[in-house]
Amino acid sequence: MSAHASIPRPAAARRSGPLRGRVRAPGDKSMSHRAMMIGLLAVGETHVTGLLEGEDVLATAKAARALGAHVERVGEGEWRIRGVGVGGLAEPDEILDFGNAGTGARLMMGVVGGHPITARFDGDASLRKRPMRRILDPLIEMGASVVEEAAGGRCPLTLAGARETIPIVYETPVASAQIKSAVLLAGLNAPGATTVIEREASRDHTERMLRHFGATIDVEPFGAHGRRVTLIGHPELEGSRVVVPADPSSAAFPLVAALLVPGSDVVVEGMMMNPLRIGLIDTLLEMGADIEFLDRGQAGGEDIATLRVRASRLTGVDVPAARAPSMIDEYPILAVAAAFAHGETRMRGLSELRVKESDRLAAVADGLAAAGVVARIEGDDLIVDGRGAARGGGIAATHLDHRIAMAFLVLGLAAEAGMGVDDSAMIATSFPAFMPLMSSLGAEVG
Ligand code: S3P
Repeated sequence: MSAHASIPRPAAARRSGPLRGRVRAPGDKSMSHRAMMIGLLAVGETHVTGLLEGEDVLATAKAARALGAHVERVGEGEWRIRGVGVGGLAEPDEILDFGNAGTGARLMMGVVGGHPITARFDGDASLRKRPMRRILDPLIEMGASVVEEAAGGRCPLTLAGARETIPIVYETPVASAQIKSAVLLAGLNAPGATTVIEREASRDHTERMLRHFGATIDVEPFGAHGRRVTLIGHPELEGSRVVVPADPSSAAFPLVAALLVPGSDVVVEGMMMNPLRIGLIDTLLEMGADIEFLDRGQAGGEDIATLRVRASRLTGVDVPAARAPSMIDEYPILAVAAAFAHGETRMRGLSELRVKESDRLAAVADGLAAAGVVARIEGDDLIVDGRGAARGGGIAATHLDHRIAMAFLVLGLAAEAGMGVDDSAMIATSFPAFMPLMSSLGAEVG
């Protein structure tokens, strides 16, 4: 099991003076995982810059090596991967230990599921609680089989990939880029067309990156908010250059901190602006956030922008369920913003939050209660009663969840009595430099 699972590191944030400065969030986690995996499946060399060197992605790099790739770090955030090509995976001798990383584990199950090899998947106590049936079910339709699994279709589990992968048409039961991606990655080694239908569009980094490496992928609208994605199997993926922009899900923390700490004025550089990832920005703008788009450009096939964020008076809003896929990882920090807003914020349709690194719906509600914020869960909705301020002073239980830890540390920067978290070690899974980056803005955190 990963080391960070066993040694908790409590941390605290104190009410801070105005945050000032210019920061850049680390590379996007979703793109970093995909660069490693698609690099593994390509022939020739893939050169990645801006890679997130967090524990989650390092676990994927290790798994890519175990499956036959030559993976080498050549500089800060700069990696070279020499792949084996679709169909060329080696059977791993070791357990593929993904630590805290649901994305790494689930997408790699797709990769393995489409190849005639057997691999054992495991992770930390958080990953062992997360449902894997949603990935295994379509992979079984494609010809894979589960040799062994923990109760309820969980890790540790052993997956035997398909001898001859069957192309399928699969409609995902929930809006999930992880399910979509697992099926598409397995479909790479199937003859003919593999189709995934999603009723609500989820992040599309897999589709974009596969196309960038030379695959034929067709994307059509499906219904009002959905998509139908069709991949032609057995492509010749060619090693490529991948530039990873800054992760909007990580940038969210300094960005919201700047909105909440009075007098703040912070520039957040080079943030990825993929429309399927920026529901938080739309919501904060609706709440009255002062966010200025200074510079727009392109990096790694994605729109990027530099944002100037100033402390703002926020108002509570109603966040529709249809927006959830575009801000699924941002609800903990949005709930913190809502606590400092004026009036009620209702976040609708959050059932998927229950199966993230922790039960985020419960962890957010409990953390807010510990901070003296009035909030409640009604069905799958979270309702926060914003009073323009929070007392803080409590300790949030993080349950091995990086985004819960960062969200409540941000709350502490603006709360009268600060805020503690019972553990911060797992922040290294997605944002290893979170503490020094926040300190560089003047945040009293550590
Ligand atoms: C991710 C997809 C999301 C998100 C996760 C990263 C991805 O999960 O929560 O942090 O990179 O595909 P779901 O697609 O399961 O909602």
